[in-house]
Amino acid sequence: MIKGLVLDLDGVITDTAEYHYLAWKSLAEKIGIDIDRTFNEQLKGISRIESLELILEHGGKDQSYSEEEKEMLAGKKNDEYKTFIERITPADLCPGMEKLLLDAKEAGLALSVASASKNASTILEQLQVKDQFTGVVDPNSLKNGKPNPEIFYKGAELLGLSPAECIGIEDAEAGIDAINDAGMFSVGVGSKESMKAANYFVENTEELDLKKMIEKAENK
Ligand code: BG6
Ligand code: MG
Repeated sequence: MIKGLVLDLDGVITDTAEYHYLAWKSLAEKIGIDIDRTFNEQLKGISRIESLELILEHGGKDQSYSEEEKEMLAGKKNDEYKTFIERITPADLCPGMEKLLLDAKEAGLALSVASASKNASTILEQLQVKDQFTGVVDPNSLKNGKPNPEIFYKGAELLGLSPAECIGIEDAEAGIDAINDAGMFSVGVGSKESMKAANYFVENTEELDLKKMIEKAENK
């Protein structure tokens, strides 16, 4: 029986992908690397430092910086990103999310957030939905990022549930792999092509219907 939802943040609860992109593009330009939106797709769901490493590799500069310098560059990106997220308001919840959170509450489901973002709690506060979640997984506590299932195990654990009692919702391919490997029912938000590994997928968050997801998960 499904008793909880474990949700990704960026691209599911709110769409911060564009802000991450703009902040990375600005940082990349400063070090002579050009990135576009197609490249940016690879950065979804991936940690800050791993994103920087992919960008450096893309620009042929993966050997150019020490670990300390990389930390400094990632910090610069985050400073700019924080100026974007300061402007987030409840109006920035993804379409259909307010209803999904309400429906989940009415159905007595417990909710947690499994995001790779160290800014997740701040963003949930800005959206004024933080108190609707029992817990937010701290990415600092993880040994491995997505696609490793650890973050979804922790998301279920925060709710006192087993992965089989939860539905995981994600927009990144790495996230879907993580949910599947955790033994949780996976719901993908995105194109058929990118969400092919999901147990069930919808093209946008507005189509995330609680009843339908539970029905699919319980009749798997
Ligand atoms: C994920 C995003 O949610 O968080 C990634 O999809 C991002 O694009 C990652 O790199 C880490 O975010 P932050 O806020 O800790 O830099
Ligand atoms: Mg995401």
